[in-house]
Amino acid sequence: MSRELSLSEIFQLGYYWETKILLTAVRLDLFTVLDGRKKTACEIAARIGAHEQTLSLLLNALVAIRLLSMEGGSYGNSSVAEKHLVRHSTQFIGHLLLLHDAEWENWGKLDQTIRTGRRSVDRHLFETDPELGSNVLAVLHRIGRQSGPEFAKRLQLIGGIRMLDLGGGAGTNAIAFCQVYPELAATVFDLPATLRLTEKTVKEAGLESRVSLLPGDFNQDPLGGPYDLVLMSDILHYQTFQTNEALVRKVAAHLSPGGRLVIKDRFLDETGTGPAWTTAFAVHILVNTQEGSCYKIADAVQWMTKAGFDSIIELEKTAVVQGVK
Ligand SMILES: C[S@@+](CC[C@H](N)C(=O)[O-])C[C@H]1O[C@@H](n2cnc3c(N)ncnc32)[C@H](O)[C@@H]1O
Repeated sequence: MSRELSLSEIFQLGYYWETKILLTAVRLDLFTVLDGRKKTACEIAARIGAHEQTLSLLLNALVAIRLLSMEGGSYGNSSVAEKHLVRHSTQFIGHLLLLHDAEWENWGKLDQTIRTGRRSVDRHLFETDPELGSNVLAVLHRIGRQSGPEFAKRLQLIGGIRMLDLGGGAGTNAIAFCQVYPELAATVFDLPATLRLTEKTVKEAGLESRVSLLPGDFNQDPLGGPYDLVLMSDILHYQTFQTNEALVRKVAAHLSPGGRLVIKDRFLDETGTGPAWTTAFAVHILVNTQEGSCYKIADAVQWMTKAGFDSIIELEKTAVVQGVK
């Protein structure tokens, strides 16, 4: 059994001030203002249109957090802030933090949601702010590029596989699979607005001849094919159990005999109390989506079994499940 929390850890858990200070600094784009040159609070206030004295309090807290430095009354970025929090840096991750900040109000309604069982949002933020959605996908793409090829290798594919990356987003997995398997050709199916970003990432990877883009709504539109491999990565936790069941059945009809369906998601374990990150993610999905949920591997097994898949196995614990048509 894991050890009990200490009192100071409980205080630490409840202490979100620094979180909001960071998110606000990113929202005000302070790190970009300080790109490459130190400035006084007065200069920064003039640049962003802020009240100098109140801004100073925020800047001082950012110094204490070690995101900024201060010398002779001038503030400057730390090297990590310069690399990841300056907007035009190639390694900017601020869009992800802006998403967390945009979800702040929804988290404020958590108690209400728990009491009533009713969700407080009627649309996911990616629908109400598609530009933010696309920027977040671009950040996730940059992060996912590192793990994509290892995941592709673990599936041990052979020959000229025709792959469908369903709800493939920026094409992170399709690109990684093409890089690992030289004979594989991929189709990325996603909403038309998302595919504008995918077009860029595929071009950057020089894979236009092997990755095709298919726009549509995967619950409504035909998916093309037939395919030898369909990947559903991080799409099912936005939807209801019944919608997922229907989608898995639909996918089965687009696979060739012997073809594989691989579902990669954030599954909860049998007890629902682990993995720890996923239990918190399940609450995040509750407050920030209209009807999403975190599911268990047993749910995915049920969708696949009902759709007629065989040899269903949990390839990676609480992360990847595969079935064969
Ligand atoms: C969290 S992203 C996952 C992206 C990618 N599969 C990955 O693992 O990196 C979810 C993706 O599903 C797409 N999506 C959501 N609903 C969809 C729908 N009804 N039809 C097609 N794509 C959809 C979104 O546009 C987004 O690209």
